[in-house]
Amino acid sequence: MRSGLDVLRPVLIARHPIVALDSFEEDRVERTLDTVARSRFQKPVPLFTWSITRGLRGPDGAVAETRAPLAALAAVGSTREGVFLFRDLHRHFDDPAVVRALRELRPRLTGTARLLFVLGPRIELPVELKRDVVLIDFPLPGHDELEALLEKHAGRLAIDERMRMPLVTALRGLTAIEASHALHLALHGREALDEAVLTALQDQKAQLARQDGVLEYVPQRWALDDIGGLATLKDWFLRRRTLFEDTAAMDRGLTPRGVLVMGIPGCGKSLTIKAISALWNLPLFRLDMSRVFGGLYGSPEEGFRRALAMMEQVAPAILWIDEIENGISAESTGADAGIKGRIFATFLTWMQEKPAQVFVGATANRIDLLPAELLRKGRFDQVFFIDLPEEAERAEIFEVHLRRKGEDLGRFNTTTLAKATKGWNGAEIEAAVSAAIIDAMSEDRAVAEDDIFMQVGKMVPLARTMAEQIKGIRSWAHQRAIRAN
Ligand SMILES: Nc1ncnc2c1ncn2[C@@H]1O[C@H](COP(=O)(O)OP(=O)(O)O)[C@@H](O)[C@H]1O
Ligand SMILES: [Mg+2]
Repeated sequence: MRSGLDVLRPVLIARHPIVALDSFEEDRVERTLDTVARSRFQKPVPLFTWSITRGLRGPDGAVAETRAPLAALAAVGSTREGVFLFRDLHRHFDDPAVVRALRELRPRLTGTARLLFVLGPRIELPVELKRDVVLIDFPLPGHDELEALLEKHAGRLAIDERMRMPLVTALRGLTAIEASHALHLALHGREALDEAVLTALQDQKAQLARQDGVLEYVPQRWALDDIGGLATLKDWFLRRRTLFEDTAAMDRGLTPRGVLVMGIPGCGKSLTIKAISALWNLPLFRLDMSRVFGGLYGSPEEGFRRALAMMEQVAPAILWIDEIENGISAESTGADAGIKGRIFATFLTWMQEKPAQVFVGATANRIDLLPAELLRKGRFDQVFFIDLPEEAERAEIFEVHLRRKGEDLGRFNTTTLAKATKGWNGAEIEAAVSAAIIDAMSEDRAVAEDDIFMQVGKMVPLARTMAEQIKGIRSWAHQRAIRAN
């Protein structure tokens, strides 16, 4: 995890005099630039800040008549030395005079003890400035910074050592201010930093992540034990559980890159990805393709690029691309096809070059729609195929859902239930258990095995209505993927 200063260093060494910093975090950026002002040149130079409301201000107070962007840029031109931080100047990039002033300023600043920074969220440079201004994403707080914040907020409360890593992990991806607010709320009225604080923190983070961007934070609610069956797949993940913390494994290139889980709907593809997050204790971010294409975040390419950049900032983490065929499909035609093709190309390159600390969990229903390049060896460590659960697996799935809903397993014979549900998927089993419990509750009594059999009799499983499609998926997967069960 690189700090703000680490990210700035190469830009400073290359002597770019004008830098745009993409960030929401004005305080953290200002602190970093304060360090730059003190240490970048042979002797310390003053730090000036500008905003449209307050104009340009330095150590000696305000510089008169500099609220207008052009006046402030002119003042930079006539000041001998300094680091100049312009807040939200990018909002004035549609003014040709501002763009022109920046272009003319650049050669004048080069080789002097002056640096100009434009700071704001979601900066997009106009094409005229692309050669004169370097744009960089200012990184979010890293592990050490977040851990220090956690300790500050914990105050006198003891931190359970087993909770330390998960708590810091839950804060990843937040700005320092967001992390502070989330900690305030999560710790309110608590006696210890325990599981309950972690859950509260994860809820906070899910809400914050939703407000911004195309990535959705998914709290850890499913353990590996909550998956019925799928023994081969579970074993694969269990064997790799320590590899993300193991720096020796990382040096030897053994850190897993990603998996593609494909198969019949409702059999636990999405569930699997959620469970890895808990098993490996890595934060999980779901990439919402409909948001990427929804246009809310600029062009789809821009939304996608931002999502990938964000993942690198929150690493180690899992990027979950659910139903990947919707975003990256070989079949699309018309206006979408060009965009999808470009996104696919970006994704392939990124998969090749991505930091080792981002694990990709992709799921697909219609794998036949995916371009062959995606499945070629080396992109994903493994492609798993999840088939309909077999009898013993169905019994386990019944057990999982009865247990999760607080029922006493001793009162049910899951073997007979499994025998009666040949061809059922996990989602259907879960639905039958829920419906049975609801019926029993409405009659004010405990649920019994017969209630579940009643539901089983009423439902037609997907496997019967979709028999042809399922045969197709199976024969496709036969040669190309490892069976998960
Ligand atoms: N193997 C399984 N074990 C336990 N529950 C399952 C299993 N497969 C599916 N389910 C239930 O069905 C729901 C839908 O499964 P999901 O993983 O979303 O299916 P998909 O394969 O379509 O992504 C899950 O939330 C879970 O309740
Ligand atoms: Mg799914």
